[in-house]
Amino acid sequence: MGKIAVVGSNMVDLITYTARMPGPGETIEAPRFEMGCGGKGANQAIAAARLGAEVMMVTKVGDDIFADNTIRNFEESGIDTRHVERVPGTSSGVAPIFVEPSGENSILIIKGANALLSPADIDRAAEDLKGCDLIVMQLEVPLETIYHTIQFGARHGIETLLNPAPAPTDLDPKRIEQVTFLVPNQTELATISGLPVTSEAEAETAARALIGRGIRTVIVTLGARGALLLTKGEETRRIEPVRVTPVDTTGAGDAFIGSFARYYVENRDLDAALRMAVRYAADSITRPGTQKSYASREAFEAFCASL
Ligand code: RIB
Ligand code: NA
Repeated sequence: MGKIAVVGSNMVDLITYTARMPGPGETIEAPRFEMGCGGKGANQAIAAARLGAEVMMVTKVGDDIFADNTIRNFEESGIDTRHVERVPGTSSGVAPIFVEPSGENSILIIKGANALLSPADIDRAAEDLKGCDLIVMQLEVPLETIYHTIQFGARHGIETLLNPAPAPTDLDPKRIEQVTFLVPNQTELATISGLPVTSEAEAETAARALIGRGIRTVIVTLGARGALLLTKGEETRRIEPVRVTPVDTTGAGDAFIGSFARYYVENRDLDAALRMAVRYAADSITRPGTQKSYASREAFEAFCASL
């Protein structure tokens, strides 16, 4: 089927479901709390693995109970953890998350050991990375490591995907030109392009500007409105959404990326993979939690059949 490497973050999500966010100096009571494995990199890896992909994770954890939990979670999902390194004396990444009744979420991230993933770690994993068909990245690890990995992919003919999340303030667009796929949401696209992105037309203009600067393919995720696919020299293609009732949107973007990677490496059919990704993300928002809400392959096939 093709092998996927995820070079990225892992976090433990501390999710509070609340009627509203407290104001400054205010204490309010929330009805429910859940802890689960998260982090954009780990989420994307788990989504791909749950759908049957062969996945290798390159990340760093601390030396706390969160680390044990995260490694066990990868192993239970059949993910290759040879390049998941424990860093003594450091905390693991954690993410306090607040989910409001509309399903909207607010997230704080504390990177912990993720901030220590370095270009040297990529070099150490080089032989195994060379055996992969697609390397998937996000921005919860140092930018230098991302630039280095993109260069590594370009040098060895391995396709790379960058999901520039969370929205970067100091990303150097020149240093990501060699990425195969850039997959931003509208906020991230606005930040990277420096252009306003408040409508689909503006999204298209901003993505074209990035293509003009050298990036080959830009996929813009539009949330409830599906996605746009823009490739150099080709017409913009629209991937239609599927309508669902949102319960918890946390990790939906990661569900999109992980499932896209899995279906893309299967036979390199970009449009088909994007249609599956829109569906997998939509299905995930109908359930609470991050990774917890990612369907198994069987459940996802049943969801697709019901559409
Ligand atoms: O994209 C959702 C993820 O962002 C959460 O799992 C949280 O850990 C943060 O990394
Ligand atoms: Na969800």
